[in-house]
Amino acid sequence: MRAYHLESPGSVDGLVVRKAPNPKPGLREVAVRIRATSLNFRDLMILNNAYFQPVTPGVIPLSDGAGEVVALGEGASRFKVGDRVAATFHPKWIAGRITHEHLASRFAPGEHVGAGRDGLLTDYKVLNEEALVAIPPHLSFEEAATLPCAAVTAWSALTAPRQLAPGETVLTLGTGGVSIFALQLAKAFGARVIATTSSDEKATRLGELGADVVINYRTTPDWEREVRSATDGRGVDCVVEVGGAGTLARSLACAGPECQVSLIGVLAGKGGSFDMTALQRGLVSLRRIGVGSRQDFELMNRAITHQKLRPVIDRVFPFEDAKSAYRYLESQKHFGKVVVSHE
Ligand SMILES: NC(=O)c1ccc[n+]([C@@H]2O[C@H](COP(=O)([O-])OP(=O)(O)OC[C@H]3O[C@@H](n4cnc5c(N)ncnc54)[C@H](OP(=O)(O)O)[C@@H]3O)[C@@H](O)[C@H]2O)c1
Repeated sequence: MRAYHLESPGSVDGLVVRKAPNPKPGLREVAVRIRATSLNFRDLMILNNAYFQPVTPGVIPLSDGAGEVVALGEGASRFKVGDRVAATFHPKWIAGRITHEHLASRFAPGEHVGAGRDGLLTDYKVLNEEALVAIPPHLSFEEAATLPCAAVTAWSALTAPRQLAPGETVLTLGTGGVSIFALQLAKAFGARVIATTSSDEKATRLGELGADVVINYRTTPDWEREVRSATDGRGVDCVVEVGGAGTLARSLACAGPECQVSLIGVLAGKGGSFDMTALQRGLVSLRRIGVGSRQDFELMNRAITHQKLRPVIDRVFPFEDAKSAYRYLESQKHFGKVVVSHE
């Protein structure tokens, strides 16, 4: 099998392809022929050694992928050969609230898939059968490969701890993977979506996907005013906050009564401080998202299947040109997801 290894973090030049014998599944494990993977912002951080966990030299990158089951290890019974599956982002978080034990093991060095331990930018991968979900039947492998991190994160932001209600308003920031899934899922819930972006071209595409109001945050730097005015001064009910330090104060200024602000990303910087009165004024809740459990993934897949929802893929790069996929994601020209085909 072929696999990329991140020999020296810092740039895509640190990625090298090596060949190795196909892995064999052990007890309760499943061998998967990976057909497609997708990139997330975290993969750029890992590539550039800017991730919050140490990157193991020579690690196989990428957490997100989909493929078909090709062999079962002893005692494996959740899937059969030929099943179409995707890997879960947290291999051990099955359902319910995340536990102390899970967090403790997760934050131990070497635990993060695609950073501390091997990920999916490879032809074959052996995974514990508990770390897989069946993919929606109407999706291609390329489409399904986009789901494990970005889509489940968007799902978590809209469904917990309080489920988004029809007619409520969601604010999304930018047009990356998480935000586009949040837009699509929020529309499926019957919600209204206000979206920001850096370009008029992307604004048009947001409108085509159903965004009700689109604001260019470059030409309108005080976009929080536009958001408030688009809600008759009431503010929004849910913020899918992927910006972090550079956007949080404005996002909080958009928050309406009992708004749920999901802290997800750091696209606009880490650290910083914010004014507590922004929370007091509207009884606003801040909640940090950690993608979600396998159960979240499975519930989301049911919704995606029922709604026949299709992930928005900007570009697909062949396995041989995976470095270009990284470069393209880094350019931030993408809209939705960037995928690598392993065919
Ligand atoms: N906590 C979690 O569980 C979790 C899970 C997934 C992702 N994340 C984090 O969430 C963030 C988004 O991840 P992703 O994979 O969706 O990223 P992505 O696909 O790389 O998104 C990049 C896009 O975000 C927009 N953007 C960049 N800077 C921005 C800014 N200052 N304000 C608003 N939008 C900005 C740009 O779109 P426009 O050109 O349209 O503005 C850009 O194309 C990352 O920080 C990632 O690490 C966290």
